[in-house]
Amino acid sequence: MGKITKGLVLITGTTSGVGLNTLKPLLSFGWEVIAVNRSNKRAVEIAQDSLTDSEIKNIHFIEVDLSDLDDVRDGCSEILKKFEKPINSIICNAAVYKPRLRKPERSPQGFENSMAVNHFGHFLLINLLLDNILSSEKEIVLNGRTTKFKPRITVLGTVTANYSELGGRIPIPAPADLGNLSGFKNGFLSPISMANGKKFKPGKAYKDSKLCNMVTVQELSKKYSKERIIVNSLYPGCVADTKLFRDTPWLFRFLFPIFQKFITKGYVTQRLAGERVAQVSTLKEYAKPAVHWSWGNRQKLGRKAFSQKLSKRIIDSKISRQTYELTRKLVGLS
Ligand SMILES: NC(=O)c1ccc[n+]([C@@H]2O[C@H](COP(=O)([O-])OP(=O)(O)OC[C@H]3O[C@@H](n4cnc5c(N)ncnc54)[C@H](OP(=O)(O)O)[C@@H]3O)[C@@H](O)[C@H]2O)c1
Repeated sequence: MGKITKGLVLITGTTSGVGLNTLKPLLSFGWEVIAVNRSNKRAVEIAQDSLTDSEIKNIHFIEVDLSDLDDVRDGCSEILKKFEKPINSIICNAAVYKPRLRKPERSPQGFENSMAVNHFGHFLLINLLLDNILSSEKEIVLNGRTTKFKPRITVLGTVTANYSELGGRIPIPAPADLGNLSGFKNGFLSPISMANGKKFKPGKAYKDSKLCNMVTVQELSKKYSKERIIVNSLYPGCVADTKLFRDTPWLFRFLFPIFQKFITKGYVTQRLAGERVAQVSTLKEYAKPAVHWSWGNRQKLGRKAFSQKLSKRIIDSKISRQTYELTRKLVGLS
């Protein structure tokens, strides 16, 4: 048995919003953190604004642009070389949402960019680090105490990707739906921009990419037993004032948080969302496979997390297997 070392958690996208606010609770639980961002310089500067020097000493910054699969490969090689001990927990948090695009932006490999960043980049990262995380020690040290920890992967899902919830049925521009996956089957390169092969709808492209994130969780949970690894997703609540909404009209940015705070009551602060992500990705009570954790769409003080019912579009075995296998091909894993 190897020597017992400090727990190591990797998180993507810590320059703002939920990811940035997940750092402090992770560090306070005693974790060593790998923060994966597309600019180390910016990630360090931003972390310095909210964390102390001694906290920052426990963060390793690794530069990866998730839109570029070659960069993901290089970043994972760097991680595997640099760290002697395996990663215990991975948090897939980074995302882009560009609902006003008239035509799709393309990743370096030519894929529609929100699918490339949100799904393909994370899918490849998970798969390249999977053997490493599966080999992680079953005992780690957190804040000086030895504790048992099962490898874990946590993915940020969302209500708008889940047709079982009201928010997942909003028809503007259309609910998340991968259809018959003909866009993926036909290579997902220009002029194709949607997983279902149909006309480009930028808001739906985001929802579809999050649906793929949630499908990946279900498929990984089927492939790997809960004795080996726990894979789950969460919806931290509506964090209506993060930079995720930077490309929406200014009036939307002004009204959306007000609407979520006072009308739907779904609003969650960035700090609370970060605490929820840190808890789901590290605490024992959330170590249940294939669960999509949620605190509901109307926030109430002291509310406990529960397992949110998922739509057939996420849990259907045939769709999840097909989505997983087609994604493997598209990112060059098979
Ligand atoms: N906000 C909500 O209401 C809400 C609700 C449900 C789920 N979520 C999910 O929560 C997660 C975080 O969202 P957020 O609201 O915190 O958004 P955010 O503030 O916009 O943060 C997104 C993070 O992703 C990073 N990122 C974007 N493109 C990247 C790329 N190509 N390579 C590497 N990193 C990249 C950003 O870095 P840069 O600074 O470099 O752009 C940033 O650090 C997302 O998965 C989102 O889908 C959010």
